[in-house]
Amino acid sequence: MATKPIGRLPVIDYNRKTIGIITNGIILKNLLLRVEKFSEATEKEAIKLASQLNLDEIRIDQPIKFRWDIKPNDFENAGKLSSELKKILLKLNIDRIIARRISIATYEAEINVLIHSKGGYALIDINMERIHAEFIDYGPGIEDIEKAMQEGYSTASQLARDLGFGAGMGLPNIKKSVDIFNIQSSCPEGTKLLFEVYFNKKL
Ligand SMILES: Nc1ncnc2c1ncn2[C@@H]1O[C@H](COP(=O)(O)OP(=O)(O)O)[C@@H](O)[C@H]1O
Ligand SMILES: [Mg+2]
Repeated sequence: MATKPIGRLPVIDYNRKTIGIITNGIILKNLLLRVEKFSEATEKEAIKLASQLNLDEIRIDQPIKFRWDIKPNDFENAGKLSSELKKILLKLNIDRIIARRISIATYEAEINVLIHSKGGYALIDINMERIHAEFIDYGPGIEDIEKAMQEGYSTASQLARDLGFGAGMGLPNIKKSVDIFNIQSSCPEGTKLLFEVYFNKKL
């Protein structure tokens, strides 16, 4: 549309039925809104971010969904999910501050499964409005969730501590960083931590 004299395009569903029209104006408006969101970004950065906006990425019909396995004490891969996610969020032009909140929550949840559980996996589901993430592990579960939520409380192993983990700030920081937070656990079955972060909502 930027290079040819095309001002509007029909939006069709799977049966090729027209369900709407997208115009240059709508795209420009959304582009400006996105640029505006990066209020603290420098002008140069804002221009770069706007130029990265790819219409192919704005597809409600194709949400991003994937599963990520986390092995116990797999320190070599610690933080890999959150760094992969960072790349995706950057591509989707998610607000930097919101993306950082998601990174913190993902990193801490990922590390918890890695250092405290027998292993598990994360389910990530991203659509235009929000990220939904679940971290499910195979035990041993958390005996006292209230205690675990306290700042500074940690049962991390000596090995984990030696590697710089186990400050006891993970769970409270996840809760602070997200819009929806839920943790359920039973011993010895395991723990399920869930969070959602909305892309347009500032805490
Ligand atoms: N997935 C999990 N499985 C078992 N215990 C967990 C899990 N996540 C957190 N915990 C418990 O909650 C405590 C607090 O977690 P957190 O705030 O992340 O601190 P840290 O990971 O630094 O110990 C942990 O020390 C551990 O006892
Ligand atoms: Mg932790």
